[in-house]
Amino acid sequence: MTGRFITFEGPEGSGKSTQAKRLAQRLEQAGHTVLVTREPGGTPTGEAIRGLLQHDHAGEAICPVTELLLFEASRAQLVSRVIQPALAKGTWVVCDRFTDSTAAYQGYGRGFDLASIIELNRVAVQGCEPDLTLLLDVETQTGLGRMSHRNRQTNVASDRFEREAVEFHERIRAGYLQLARRWPGRIKIVNGMRDEQSVEADVWKVVSDALTP
Ligand code: TYD
Repeated sequence: MTGRFITFEGPEGSGKSTQAKRLAQRLEQAGHTVLVTREPGGTPTGEAIRGLLQHDHAGEAICPVTELLLFEASRAQLVSRVIQPALAKGTWVVCDRFTDSTAAYQGYGRGFDLASIIELNRVAVQGCEPDLTLLLDVETQTGLGRMSHRNRQTNVASDRFEREAVEFHERIRAGYLQLARRWPGRIKIVNGMRDEQSVEADVWKVVSDALTP
């Protein structure tokens, strides 16, 4: 039996990483083998690409098309080396960001034509589509506030995306909500403005209703 494939999406500071881990624990308690991974990254090649994407190297700004293709390259590697083999063994896969991030950030955020992004996503995933996507929705200022708080706590410098203007992040949030309207069967919106336990309970309800774990 093949496993199920669940992705988490959302703007900066929406709590995806925390919720991905919590969902994985619940699925394990329900008796599944679970793999948690993330984009960009999740493979040695993907992690190297992640390093390229987070900061401009040697003072050279990354061109928007280069950025788009690097995300797709990281995804293609993750799908073929990690996600597909895991699903084939019956492992459930929980991925922190996937194709909808490219539609939201490079499409709605940077202004690339959505149809081209959907086509590039199709090439990268080779038929490996998520069974369910949880969109953690947060107001932009709340998300950005959480993120800068976390960066200060961990003494981490903000990356290229986090340094973008508030308007960029507003477009991403609105773009995600449009994507949820476009694919209502797959993308479920969860209100990420509450405490971690409440969000976790909502996520579990959505997963239970959609996939009967
Ligand atoms: P990360 O540190 O993982 O941020 P987060 O915790 O918000 O997921 O950095 C990933 C960044 O890359 C994030 O700002 C979103 C962006 N991104 C895209 O622009 N396009 C994509 O296709 C993906 C997967 C991520």
